[in-house]
Amino acid sequence: MSQWRYHNPVAVHFGTGVIDQVAEQIGPRKWLLVTQAQAPFAPMRERLTARTHAPLAIADAIAPNPSLAMLQGLCNQLRPEANDIEVIVALGGGSVMDTAKFLAAGHCDYMSVACYLDGLVKLSGKSLPIIAIPTTAGTGSELTKWATIWDPDQGRKLSLNRDDLYAEAAFIDPDLTASLPWALTLASGLDALSHALESIWNRNATPVTRGFAVTAAGDVLKALARLHVNLEDRDARCLLARGAMGAGLAFSNTQTALAHNISYPITLKHGVAHGIAASFCLPEVMTAAIGVDVECDVALRAVFGDLDSAAQALRRVLSDLGVAGTPQAYGIGEEEWRRILADAFDGPRGRNFNGVPAKFPSEPIL
Ligand SMILES: [Fe+2]
Repeated sequence: MSQWRYHNPVAVHFGTGVIDQVAEQIGPRKWLLVTQAQAPFAPMRERLTARTHAPLAIADAIAPNPSLAMLQGLCNQLRPEANDIEVIVALGGGSVMDTAKFLAAGHCDYMSVACYLDGLVKLSGKSLPIIAIPTTAGTGSELTKWATIWDPDQGRKLSLNRDDLYAEAAFIDPDLTASLPWALTLASGLDALSHALESIWNRNATPVTRGFAVTAAGDVLKALARLHVNLEDRDARCLLARGAMGAGLAFSNTQTALAHNISYPITLKHGVAHGIAASFCLPEVMTAAIGVDVECDVALRAVFGDLDSAAQALRRVLSDLGVAGTPQAYGIGEEEWRRILADAFDGPRGRNFNGVPAKFPSEPIL
């Protein structure tokens, strides 16, 4: 048997009410709260701050898909307190987590991280510690050491990837996702499904990551079907949070693969939500992966049953959830789609993919 390792240093606290244990984790440290200002976050902020001392500073002007310009503004705002912050508490979805990692890496100094992302300098010293409290079930960012930063002015997607950006602890409380509307529930849930499947058809997969991923994919599929019928289903919220966590534990060690590489230009140029962009062509990606690696096939069979009908079955699931299956539905023309695919196979995430380009269907599986 080949050698492999698995590593994830995040202390995971899971379950209804774990948000009440965050105060203990913060302890006497001076903390920065990174969150969003919108209404659904107000009661969560209150619950969090009711049990501990007040944060030294709050950064809550977080736009989706954090851009360099937005991060520069935040760092300017935080300059008076930056040197005193001892720990960052991130309460929110993927954009909040990514913002927290950017701030942690440079101790809230914009230029040092911006220059680091351009490959101009090394970052000196260790990142600030992060306590992650996800309020969506999907990104898994609370369990990974990387962040996606966007540079829309130059059409670039930048990746921050450092061992010291793993959170010191993640508090995953499914109750925090209870009020999420369907569109956000779906997009974040499908992001988790994509993480699980992408870590299965991945050259970096191990028995541990595939174990997490198979269970996670099953949890997410079951949970989304239930929440589509009844958004108030608390048990399904728990199942989705558990699935997103399992997917996070899986892809934190494998990274993602082809479907994510396909998604980035679609999000950047067409504004499609990440979870939708990263999942609408999963059936086609799966077709290119099936029959290439025995262990991968075993894992996919554990999720979908018969592999001959797996891609069709997944297309039916996506369609039932209201997800369109053609690039055209997202405003992508034929020529652009061909270019996106070619670039996606060539990029670093594409090279993680263990499938075969020639097996990728030329037409969407509908
Ligand atoms: Fe993702």
